[in-house]
Amino acid sequence: MLKMKYRDVVSIGDFTVEEIEGIMDHAKKMVPIAKGEKKSKALDGKILSTLFFEPSTRTRLSFESAMLRLGGEFIGFAEPSVTSAKKGETLADTIRMAEAYSDVIVLRHPREGAARLAAKFSSKPVINAGDGAGQHPTQTLLDLFTIKSEKGKIGGMNINLVGDLKYGRTVHSLAHALAMFGAELTFTAPKDLQMPEHVIKRVKELGIKPRMEESLETSIEDADVVYVTRIQKERFADLAEFEKVSGAYRIDMDMLEKARKDMIIMHPLPRVNEIAPEVDNTPHAKYFVQAFNGVPVRMALLSLVLGVKG
Ligand code: NCD
Repeated sequence: MLKMKYRDVVSIGDFTVEEIEGIMDHAKKMVPIAKGEKKSKALDGKILSTLFFEPSTRTRLSFESAMLRLGGEFIGFAEPSVTSAKKGETLADTIRMAEAYSDVIVLRHPREGAARLAAKFSSKPVINAGDGAGQHPTQTLLDLFTIKSEKGKIGGMNINLVGDLKYGRTVHSLAHALAMFGAELTFTAPKDLQMPEHVIKRVKELGIKPRMEESLETSIEDADVVYVTRIQKERFADLAEFEKVSGAYRIDMDMLEKARKDMIIMHPLPRVNEIAPEVDNTPHAKYFVQAFNGVPVRMALLSLVLGVKG
C-alpha cells in the first residue's frame, strides 16, 4: 500500500524505490485523462495553490493542467512582484495564506531549502517545484517515468548527465534517484560545473561509482540516455564565469553520429543552444514527450497526496 496521503514532496530521497514505482504505475493510468481522451472528476472540489517565485513554463502549466484534468481548480501566481512578498511579507506568512485557501501547495522559490521550510509552516501537503540550486523532485519523477517508458527499465541503463551539474537542481534530484534504481551514471561537465560533492557522496553510498567526464564527444558513445541541461545563468555570481562555459556542449547531427542508434536524448527544458533544432526530428529526441509526461505524473502525485484514488 502506498502511504502518500498528506505527504510533502520536498526531496526525492524522502521516497523509497517502491513508492516511486507506485507513483509511476499510477501515472501510467492517468495518460488517457492527461491527453483528454477520458474524463475524470477525481479532484472535484479540491484547490491547488501554485506559488511561483521564479520563472516557469512547463512545471506550472503542467501542474495546473493536471489539476484541471482531474476536475480540480487552482489559484496562484507566476510573478511574485504582484503579491505581498513585494511588500516584505515572509514566505512563512504567504504559505499560511495558501494553506488557508487551498488543499495542496506547489512552490518554486530561488532559495535552497525554501520548500522544506514551507512544509514546516503548512499542515497541507507542500510540493517542491524547484528550490534554487537545490532539488526538483517532481521533474525527477517525470524523468524516471520517461526513461522507464522509453527504455523499459532504469536499473543497468548507462545515463549520462550533461551540462551544468553544479547549479542544475534537476540533475541533483535525478542523480540521487537513478542511483537508488541502480543505473550506471556518467557526469559530463566542465570542471567548474561538476556535480556537487554532497550529491556524489550520496550516489556512492547507494553503491554507484559515477564516471566523471569533460568531453561529451567521448562520453556520448556508450550512453543509453543523454540528459542535457541548460547552463543556469541566473545562478552565477560572476557573469564572466558564465561566459567561459556557455555553449560548452551542443548536440547536433555530427555529434549524433558518435551515439548509439537507440540512445535517447532528454532535457528538462528550457533549452537555449544545447540541442540543435534539427535533432528534434530524429528518433533520439524525447524531450517533448518528456515534457508531456509531466501532466500524468503530476496528476498521479496530486491525487495520491490528496488521498483520492484517481
Ligand atoms: C528546470 C528548472 O526550473 O530547474 N526546468 C524545469 O522545471 N523543467 C531546468 C532549467 O531551468 O534549466
